[in-house]
Amino acid sequence: MSRGRAYDLVMASVLDDRQIEQYQRDGFLVIEGFVDRSACDDLKAAANQIVAEFEPTGQRTIFTTNEQERASNAEFLASGSAIWCFFEEEAFDADGTLRTKKELSINKIGHAMHDLNPMFEKFSYRPELAGVAADIGLVDALALQSMYIFKQPLIGGEVGCHQDSTFLYTEPMTVTGFWFAIEDATLQNGCLWAKPGGHRTSLRKLFKRAGTTDDDGTLFEELDASPLPSPSELVPLEVSAGTMIILNGLLPHWSDINRSEKSRHAYSLHSISAASDYPEWNWLQRPPDMPLRSLAGVSA
Ligand code: FE2
Repeated sequence: MSRGRAYDLVMASVLDDRQIEQYQRDGFLVIEGFVDRSACDDLKAAANQIVAEFEPTGQRTIFTTNEQERASNAEFLASGSAIWCFFEEEAFDADGTLRTKKELSINKIGHAMHDLNPMFEKFSYRPELAGVAADIGLVDALALQSMYIFKQPLIGGEVGCHQDSTFLYTEPMTVTGFWFAIEDATLQNGCLWAKPGGHRTSLRKLFKRAGTTDDDGTLFEELDASPLPSPSELVPLEVSAGTMIILNGLLPHWSDINRSEKSRHAYSLHSISAASDYPEWNWLQRPPDMPLRSLAGVSA
């Protein structure tokens, strides 16, 4: 992993002391109106364009379950340096045919749009976001992973309670999520829920590459068997489009299934500090010719 720069950037402060204290206390911070509605609309249009141009592989019907799993895993592992559309679990019937329109079957796009798509790049490398990262103590923040989550009407799946550091890990732990509501997120369409103060806890599991190649797949390693909080301990974060929520990588959070007729589009960008170690068993690995870039828009 590339490290730091030979000089320091002086970053404009974006958050006030009260917000920084709140983030440190709760493990998350809600910032309303962080991005303009027009920027949300532009990002939504870019996401829809990616889906429109995405050709589902025609091979799903001929795979056995095991081959299917191995192929999906390889697609997933390669997506750390690519743009890939992931389908909802129930999108295909037994014959491998889409049950509904492709546009309504995609669960998310991942995981390198911020470096490969100009509109996502513009949205992600905004100076005020680099300022926020600096304010919360993320030293030399790098943009690691982007996800555009559709949370489709009626079928948008639940995301079980988890800690993001399970999936992206550094030593010490610096993973920080910047979650943007691209559409209003409500109780009905599956807003985020979080456990205030829940970041002052242990990391329960690690998600790791099982070997050195994409074909080797992945595994979970348990670190601490104590359960994550139950839904009754979490608070809902209902927010309007344009809101940004910062999430500490250790914070347990969850989002419900979308049972409403409205989608709940969100964009999530994960960042790590260039001053931390990024183990090689992390699922997301960039090839040498595509190094991570500083959130401040300067090559690391
Ligand atoms: Fe998450």
